[in-house]
Amino acid sequence: MEVLTGQVAVVTGAGRGIGEAISKRLAKLGAAVVLIARDAERLAEVNGQIEMAGGRAEVFPLDLRDEEAITALANSIKERYGRCDILVNNAGIGAMGAPLHETSPDTWEAVMATNLRAPYLMIRALAPLMIATGSGHIINISSLAGHNPLKNGAAYAASKWGLNGLTYSAAEELRDYGVRVSAVAPGSVNTSFGSRVTDAGWKIQSEDVANVVAMLVTQSPQSFVSEVLLRPTRKH
Ligand SMILES: NC(=O)c1ccc[n+]([C@@H]2O[C@H](COP(=O)([O-])OP(=O)(O)OC[C@H]3O[C@@H](n4cnc5c(N)ncnc54)[C@H](OP(=O)(O)O)[C@@H]3O)[C@@H](O)[C@H]2O)c1
Repeated sequence: MEVLTGQVAVVTGAGRGIGEAISKRLAKLGAAVVLIARDAERLAEVNGQIEMAGGRAEVFPLDLRDEEAITALANSIKERYGRCDILVNNAGIGAMGAPLHETSPDTWEAVMATNLRAPYLMIRALAPLMIATGSGHIINISSLAGHNPLKNGAAYAASKWGLNGLTYSAAEELRDYGVRVSAVAPGSVNTSFGSRVTDAGWKIQSEDVANVVAMLVTQSPQSFVSEVLLRPTRKH
C-alpha cells in the first residue's frame, strides 16, 4: 500500500538502527526518502537496499552539527523536489556511563548539538517548505529518558527532556499551517546504540519504532498525535 507516493521524507540517522528501519518503511509506503548521516558508505548501502526493494531514496551525507550543511540540504531539497512532507529527526548519541559532575563540557556540547540543536536546525530549514504546502509531519525520536531520570546519563536525559519541550512547542506553532509535530519515546531498542539494558530479550525492535512512525504519517489530516511512549512487552 503506497499511501505516501509523491511525498518526500527526510530521515536523519538513516545509516543504521532505528533510522534505517524508518527510512525503509517510509520508502515501502511510497515516499522518496532523503537519507542523512555522516557515514556515506552506510547510507549508500541502505539506499541500495531501498532501491532493490523497488523504493526511491537518495543519500545526503552530512554532520548534523554543521548549520551550513543543513542549509545546503534544504536548498537541495527545494531545488530537486520543491517540497518536504515528512521530517524524522532521529539521529542521536548517548554518552552514558558517567555522572554529570564527571561529564566533560565537550561531551555535553556534542550531546546537545546532536540531540537537541540539530532537530531545531532541521525544523528551521525545512518547516518553511511544509508551511508553503500547508501540510507536513515532523517526528522527533525522543526517549523514555525524556520522561524519567537517567542515572549516569544526565546530558542525554536533558537533551531528550528538551526535545520534548521543543516538540510540544513547535507543534503549537505549526498546527495552524497544517503541519503536525510529534514525538516518539521508545524504551531500549535493539540497536548498537549505547544502552543501560543488557538483556536483549526485553528490547523493542527498530521496526516497532518504524511502525509507530508509519502510523503517525498516515493519520487522517484533521488530527495529530502529540507523543507515543513505546515500551517492550514480556521477555521473548
Ligand atoms: N537504541 C535505543 O535503545 C534507543 C532508545 C530510545 C531512544 N533512542 C533514540 O533513537 C534514535 C536512534 O537511535 P539508534 O539506536 O538507532 O542509534 P544508532 O544505531 O547509534 O544510530 C544513530 C544514527 O545517527 C547518526 N548520527 C549520529 N550523530 C550524527 C551526526 N552528528 N550527524 C549525522 N548523523 C549522525 C549515525 O550515523 P553516523 O555515525 O554515520 O553519522 C546513525 O545513523 C536516537 O535519537 C536515540 O536517542 C534510542
